[in-house]
Amino acid sequence: MPKYRIAWMPGDGIGVDVMDAARLILDELNLDAEYPHSDIGWEFWCKEGNPLPTRTIDLLKTCTCGLFGAITSKPKDEAALELAPELQNKGLSYRSPIVGLRQLFDLYTNLRPCKAYKGNPLNYKDDIDLVIFRENTEGLYSGVEFHPLPDEVRELITEHNPRMSRFDDVPSDEMAVSLRVITNKGARRIIRQAFAYAQNFNYPTVTLVEKPNVLRETSGLMRHIAREVSNEYPDIELWETNIDAQMMWLLKNPEDYGVIVTSNMFGDIVSDLSAQLVGGLGFAASGNIGDEFAVFEPTHGSAPKYAGQYKVNPTAMLLATKLMLDWLGESEMAERLEKAIAGVIADGKISTYDMGGSNTTLEMAEAVKERL
Ligand code: IPM
Ligand code: MG
Repeated sequence: MPKYRIAWMPGDGIGVDVMDAARLILDELNLDAEYPHSDIGWEFWCKEGNPLPTRTIDLLKTCTCGLFGAITSKPKDEAALELAPELQNKGLSYRSPIVGLRQLFDLYTNLRPCKAYKGNPLNYKDDIDLVIFRENTEGLYSGVEFHPLPDEVRELITEHNPRMSRFDDVPSDEMAVSLRVITNKGARRIIRQAFAYAQNFNYPTVTLVEKPNVLRETSGLMRHIAREVSNEYPDIELWETNIDAQMMWLLKNPEDYGVIVTSNMFGDIVSDLSAQLVGGLGFAASGNIGDEFAVFEPTHGSAPKYAGQYKVNPTAMLLATKLMLDWLGESEMAERLEKAIAGVIADGKISTYDMGGSNTTLEMAEAVKERL
C-alpha cells in the first residue's frame, strides 16, 4: 500500500486545470501516494443539491490529507436558481464546501504564505515575505446567521444589550444578523500556531491584525489572548494593529511585516491583498491545517471564464503542493519543488498570461518539472 492516501478534489472551473499541473509534479517527484478522486463542487450542487456529498466526507476520513483545486461559490439566491428542476423549492441552501470542510474537519489554521519570488514581473516590491495565519473555523464565517431575526432571539438580545433598542423600529424580516463568534480556544490555538511558526522560521515579530477599538469584545478577546501567548515567546515581539490601518501599511511598507495572525474574515481580506503584493492570486497558496488532517489549495477561485483552457498560472497550486509536502514531512521534496518554481520564475522564459507571457498551465508545470 502506498504511504500516503491523498484525496484528489479538483472541484470545478480552473480547479481541474491546475490540479492536472500538480499531478505532473507529484508523479515526477515519485511521491509514494495514491490519489482517490473525490466529488466536490458546483456540479454536485446542481445535480444532487449538495456540493460536498456525504460519500466525499467518508472518503476524506480514509485519507492522509487532501489536495483541492477550486470551487464556484455563489450567493444563496443565485445558487438556488441553478439547481436541477426536481431539486428546486425544496429549501436547499448553498454553503461553500471549502468552508464546510474547514469546519467539519476542524482545520483551524489557514496558512497563507505570500513571498515575492525574485524576477516575478508582478511583484509589487522585492523583499516581501508575509505569512498569514487566518483563523479558519469561527469568527464571522461561523455560519450562525439569521434572516429574519427570530423574535425570541431578538428579545433576548435586547434584554441583554440595550444597544439593540436602536433598531426597535425595524421589522425582524427587514434585518439580517451574522454572529462573529470568537472563542478562547479558537483564538489561542491560531495565535500559538503563528508564534510557533515565527520561532521555527526566525521571524522577529508576529502582528495581530484586529479592530479592538470598535469590536471591543471579539477583537478584544483576540488581543487579550495574543498578549498571553506572546509571554510564552519572549524572543518574538507582538505588534498589534487595526485591520483598516494594516491595509494601508501593507501597501506602504510590506517588507516590515512577517507573520500576521488574525480572525477569519479579516484573514480572508488580508490574504487577498497580500497575494496581490506578490503577483496576484496566481501565486498564493493555502494550507487548511488541523491537528490530524489538512487540505491544501490555491487561494484563487474557480475563474469559470478560463475553465478548461489551461491558460491560468499553476504556481499557486504548485506552491500548495509544496505546503502539503512540508506537512507530510517530505521536506526534501518540498524544498526541491520550491526551488524549481523559484527557478522558473527567475528565469522568466516561461510565463502565463497574467505574467505577460503566453505559455499554458501545463507548459509552466513542465518547466518546473524539468528543474526538479
Ligand atoms: C478563500 C475564499 C473562500 C473564503 C470562499 C471561496 C468561501 O475566498 O479561501 O479565501 O472566503 O474563505
Ligand atoms: Mg478569500
